[in-house]
Amino acid sequence: MFQSIDPSGAASCPDETSALGRMLQLWPSAATVLSRARYAEQALAEAVGQGVRQYVILGAGMDTFAFRRRDMLERLEVFEIDHPATQAFKRNRIAGLGWEIPAQLHLVSLDFTKEKLDDILKCPPYDPRAITFFSWLGVTYYLPRDSVLDTLSAVARVSPRGGMIVFDYLDRNVRSTGKAAERVKAVMDSLQSLGEPLKAGLDPSTLDSDVARIGFSLQENLTPSDIRRRYFEGRTDGYRASQHIHFALAAVE
Ligand SMILES: C[S@@+](CC[C@H](N)C(=O)[O-])C[C@H]1O[C@@H](n2cnc3c(N)ncnc32)[C@H](O)[C@@H]1O
Repeated sequence: MFQSIDPSGAASCPDETSALGRMLQLWPSAATVLSRARYAEQALAEAVGQGVRQYVILGAGMDTFAFRRRDMLERLEVFEIDHPATQAFKRNRIAGLGWEIPAQLHLVSLDFTKEKLDDILKCPPYDPRAITFFSWLGVTYYLPRDSVLDTLSAVARVSPRGGMIVFDYLDRNVRSTGKAAERVKAVMDSLQSLGEPLKAGLDPSTLDSDVARIGFSLQENLTPSDIRRRYFEGRTDGYRASQHIHFALAAVE
């Protein structure tokens, strides 16, 4: 694939691993995808250290946590919740690769705009009495604000106090004419042409009170500058934080 995008770049890579690394550097969203996964999995590791035994990945997409981190599966039941079409595609890819789905990984399909998470997560093997860690990465961008807050409310209903959620979101400036960064505008235009338009975005200055109203206390609300300092300072490989994208960590009250 890299060969078709950049034939001379591909020719200069000694092996498949370095070709994959080079290809990721050319993909504008790679730094966001990698840094948000790092942020979530670091917070998850801390939560597991404190006794959390359920991990729910909302809108999992092609997330490979349960395949990459078999070591964590000794202590965790993992639930991937995703749109039925994406999940069917993923099942096919897993089968095509000849991978085995671990016994601790449960694939559950749901459309956030049509169904409620708490209707889906009310029966075994999910335990609604267990303190649970959720991640919701790369999804809020595509949903109307009400659907985002509805899904967060459902998370608060299916985990007791102490449950946590990590999510990323676009700030509202991305929709204001003249305020969106050029690079982000280009990504938005390409997603629009793929039929996956980005929606309204959230307001970082009111997120604290917005989530408090639905049963959460906001623990962290990282701005693009915070993310740059934490994950990208001093890098020389071209990866950088994306403007307008924020990372949040909230706890069920
Ligand atoms: C950009 S991918 C993010 C995948 C992964 N979480 C990551 O961090 O890269 C967006 C995911 O949101 C899911 N999604 C989008 N709209 C959805 C909806 N209405 N209901 C359920 N899942 C949805 C898609 O199926 C896809 O898996």
